[in-house]
Amino acid sequence: MATQITVSLLVALLLFVHTCGVWAVVEVNMEEKVEVMRGETAQITCMYTSDEGIGGTTIEWLVVTRSGEEKAIYFQDSFHTKTEPNTPYTDRISVKRTGAEEVVLTINNVQLQDEREFICRIKSLTDGMGMGSTNLRVFERPNFPTIESRTEGVTADQDKLSEIGTCQVKNGYPKPNITWYRNNTPLRSVTNEVEVSSSTTTESTGLFSVLSKLSLNVKKEDKDADFYCEATYLLPGFSGMSETEHINITVFYPSTEIHVWVESPKVKIKEGDTVVLQCSGNGNSPASFLFKHNDVDLPGEADVKVLENVSRQNSGVYQCTSTDMETFEELLNTTTVSVNYLDAAVVTPRENVSMAMGQELEATCNALSSLQTQTVWLKDGEEVSKGHILNLKAQSLDTAGTYVCVVTVPEIEGMETSSSLRVFVKSPPVLKEDDVTEVETEEETVVLSCHARGYPVPTITWDTKDGKKQSDPNFRILSDDSSQSTLSLKVDSNATVFCKASNNQGDDKATFNIRVKTTVYTTPVATTTTTTTTTNNTIPISNVTDVYTTPVITTTTTTTTTNNTITISNVTVKPKTPNSAEKVKAESNGVIIAVIIICILLLAILGSVLYFLYKKGKICGRSGKQDLTKEKSSKDNIVVEMKSDNTEESILLGANGEKQPPRD
Ligand SMILES: *[C@@H]1O[C@H](CO)[C@@H](O)[C@H](O)[C@H]1NC(C)=O
Ligand SMILES: *[C@@H]1O[C@H](CO)[C@@H](O)[C@H](O)[C@H]1NC(C)=O
Ligand SMILES: *[C@@H]1O[C@H](CO)[C@@H](O)[C@H](O)[C@H]1NC(C)=O
Ligand SMILES: *[C@@H]1O[C@H](CO)[C@@H](O)[C@H](O)[C@H]1NC(C)=O
Ligand SMILES: *[C@@H]1O[C@H](CO)[C@@H](O)[C@H](O)[C@H]1NC(C)=O
Ligand SMILES: *[C@@H]1O[C@H](CO)[C@@H](O)[C@H](O)[C@H]1NC(C)=O
Ligand SMILES: *[C@@H]1O[C@H](CO)[C@@H](O)[C@H](O)[C@H]1NC(C)=O
Ligand SMILES: *[C@@H]1O[C@H](CO)[C@@H](O)[C@H](O)[C@H]1NC(C)=O
Ligand SMILES: *[C@@H]1O[C@H](CO)[C@@H](O)[C@H](O)[C@H]1NC(C)=O
Ligand SMILES: *[C@@H]1O[C@H](CO)[C@@H](O)[C@H](O)[C@H]1NC(C)=O
Repeated sequence: MATQITVSLLVALLLFVHTCGVWAVVEVNMEEKVEVMRGETAQITCMYTSDEGIGGTTIEWLVVTRSGEEKAIYFQDSFHTKTEPNTPYTDRISVKRTGAEEVVLTINNVQLQDEREFICRIKSLTDGMGMGSTNLRVFERPNFPTIESRTEGVTADQDKLSEIGTCQVKNGYPKPNITWYRNNTPLRSVTNEVEVSSSTTTESTGLFSVLSKLSLNVKKEDKDADFYCEATYLLPGFSGMSETEHINITVFYPSTEIHVWVESPKVKIKEGDTVVLQCSGNGNSPASFLFKHNDVDLPGEADVKVLENVSRQNSGVYQCTSTDMETFEELLNTTTVSVNYLDAAVVTPRENVSMAMGQELEATCNALSSLQTQTVWLKDGEEVSKGHILNLKAQSLDTAGTYVCVVTVPEIEGMETSSSLRVFVKSPPVLKEDDVTEVETEEETVVLSCHARGYPVPTITWDTKDGKKQSDPNFRILSDDSSQSTLSLKVDSNATVFCKASNNQGDDKATFNIRVKTTVYTTPVATTTTTTTTTNNTIPISNVTDVYTTPVITTTTTTTTTNNTITISNVTVKPKTPNSAEKVKAESNGVIIAVIIICILLLAILGSVLYFLYKKGKICGRSGKQDLTKEKSSKDNIVVEMKSDNTEESILLGANGEKQPPRD
C-alpha cells in the first residue's frame, strides 16, 4: 500500500516536473495595463524568450470576453499570419514584430468595449508554450459639471434635511465622482446633518452620467454660505477635476427680536405731520404685522404704518406684533409717539382797547403748547416787547396801533401762532396845518385842505366868514385816528377861512388868509416888442414889460433912439428878489424922474447959452441959426425917447425946443 502511494506520488511529481519543464521554456512578458483615451490607438507589447528562432514559434492574440471565454483575434506562425474574421477587431488591429522576441498589437479607434484583457500566447514546437496578458483601460473626459440650486427659500432650524441643489456631470468614463463643497469645505454625509446622494446613469454610448443631490439641515448661517460641486475623473496616467459655478441659497430664519420706531419725521412730531412707523424683526422669514395704538388695533398687515395729519390724539403707545408665517411665533414691541401741539394764541384784553392819554395797560398773550414757547410783541413789523406780557403807556397818538403777539416753539421750526390787540389812544384833534396860513392867489378858486389827527376820528368843519360861495367840503377818514377835508373856494376878494377839527376830546382850529392878487403893476411902461440888437454884449429883450417888472437895471451906459424902439446896451440884469420888488419899482421911477429933471435943466442951460450966443452973434455979425444946427447935432446922443403905454405922442426934445420928425 505504502509503496503504491509512493509510486503514484513519484509519477505525479515526474509528470509535474515534465510539464513545468515544457511550459517554462517560453517566457512571455507583458505590461499589466495599457491606458488610452477613447478613439485613440492602443499598443500592447508582448515580449518573450525562446530558445528557438523566429521560425519556430507561433504567436496568438486573444481577448477575454465578458463571459470569461478566450477568443482568438490574431494568429501567426512561420508560414502565415491571420486576423480572425468576424470579430470586433478584424479591421482595427495590426501586429508588428518590433524585435527578435517582441511583437506589438496595435488597436485603432479604441472603443469602450475594448476595455478588456488582451492575451498574447507564444507556442514553440520544442519548448512548449508561454502566455501573458494586458488589461486595456479606456477613458473619456466628462462634460463640465453643472449645478442647480433650489429656487425657493428654505427655513432654517427645522431639524430636517432640506434639499439644497443638484449637480450633474455627464458622459465620462470611467464613472466620474461628484463632491459637494460648502465654503470650500467638502461635504460628506453625516446623519441628520448632511446627505449627499448620487445616482449614476449609463448612457446609450456606454458613458456614465452622475447626478448628485445635496440635502442639509439648514442653519441660519447657511444664508451666507457658498455652495459648489467638484467633478473628479480619471484620465490616462492622472486624474482630472472641474468645478461648477458657486450658488447661494435663501435661508429664512424667524426673528428673535422685533423693533418698532418712528421712521419719519426724524425731528419732533407736530400736529399736521405725517408720521411713518416702521416695525422690523431681526429674522428674515415672512411674517405679518399688526399695529395697535393704545391697545386698539389699526388696520393693515404691513410692517409700515403711515399716520397722516396727526393730532395730539395720535399720541400714545404703539405696539407692533409680528407673526411668523411658518412657525406662527409671535413677537411684540412698543414705541411711544408724542405729537406736539401749539394752540391758537389768546390775547387779553380780547376787545379793542381805547386808552386815555397817560393811562397804562398790561396785555398778555398765551398759547397752550406741549413744548416751551417764546413770545414776542410786534408793532408795524418791529419788535416792541419780549415775553408774553406787554406793558403799554399811552404817551401819544403813536402808542395807538395794532400789537401782534407771535408765539413760537423754538424746538420745532415752523410751529407758530399769533394774535393781535388793537389799541386806540383818546386824544383831542390836532391839525397838521399852521394856525394861520397866508394864501396868495391869482386864480378864481382856491383849494384848501385840513388834515387832523385824534381819536375818536375828528370831524372837520369849515367857516367862511364872509359867506363866500363854496362847494361842499370833501371829508375823508384816513385811518382810525386821522381824517382830512378839502374845500374848494371861489374867491374874488381877500378872505379869511377857518377850518375846525373836533371830537369828544376837544377841537383844533386853523385860519387861512386869502389874498387875491390883482394887476399888481400900474406904472406905465413901454410894451413895444421886437427889439433887435446887433452889438455884442447886448441882451436881446423880447418883452419889455418883463424887463421892467422882473429884472433890475443897474447900469445904462448908452441908449440909442430910433423911431419907437429903445435899445439899451451894456445892461446888467439881476433876477428879481421877492423883497426888493417894491424898491426896484421906486428906483426905476426915480431914475426916470431924474433923467427928465436933468433934461429940463439941460434945456434951460441950453436956452440961456443959445440966447447968449445969439446976442454975441449979433455983435459978431453972424447968423445964429447956423451955429444952432451945429450945436444940435453934437447933442444927439443924450436925447432919450420914450413911448408911454397910453400911446402919448412921442416927445422929441430938440436943442431948439421944437418938435422934430424922426431922422434917419
Ligand atoms: C470616486 O470615489 C470612489 C469612492 O470614494 C473612489 O474609489 C474612486 O477612485 C473615485 N473616482 C475618482 C475618479 O476620483
Ligand atoms: C452669495 O451671498 C454672498 C453674501 O450674501 C454674496 O456676497 C455673494 O455674492 C453671493 N453669491 C452668489 C453667487 O449669489
Ligand atoms: C424691544 O425694543 C427694544 C429697543 O428697541 C429692544 O431692546 C428689545 O429687545 C425689544 N424687545 C423685543 C421683545 O424684541
Ligand atoms: C388735519 O386735521 C385737522 C383736524 O384734526 C383738520 O382740521 C385739517 O383740515 C386736516 N388737514 C388736512 C390737510 O387733512
Ligand atoms: C376793533 O377795531 C377795528 C378797527 O377799527 C374794527 O374793525 C373792529 O371791528 C374792532 N373790533 C371790535 C371787537 O370792536
Ligand atoms: C388885499 O390885501 C392886500 C394886503 O393885505 C392889500 O394890499 C390889497 O389891497 C387887498 N385887496 C383887496 C381887493 O382888498
Ligand atoms: C458879435 O456877435 C456876432 C454874433 O453874435 C459875431 O458874429 C461877431 O463877431 C461879434 N463881434 C464882436 C466884436 O465880438
Ligand atoms: C409879455 O409879458 C406879459 C406879462 O408878463 C405876458 O402876458 C406876455 O405873454 C408876454 N409876451 C411875450 C411875447 O412874451
Ligand atoms: C422903426 O425903425 C425900424 C428900424 O430901426 C424900422 O424897421 C421900423 O419900421 C420903424 N418903425 C416905424 C413905426 O417907423
Ligand atoms: C459896459 O459898462 C462897463 C461899466 O459900466 C464897462 O466897464 C464896459 O467896458 C462896458 N462895455 C461895453 C461893451 O460898452
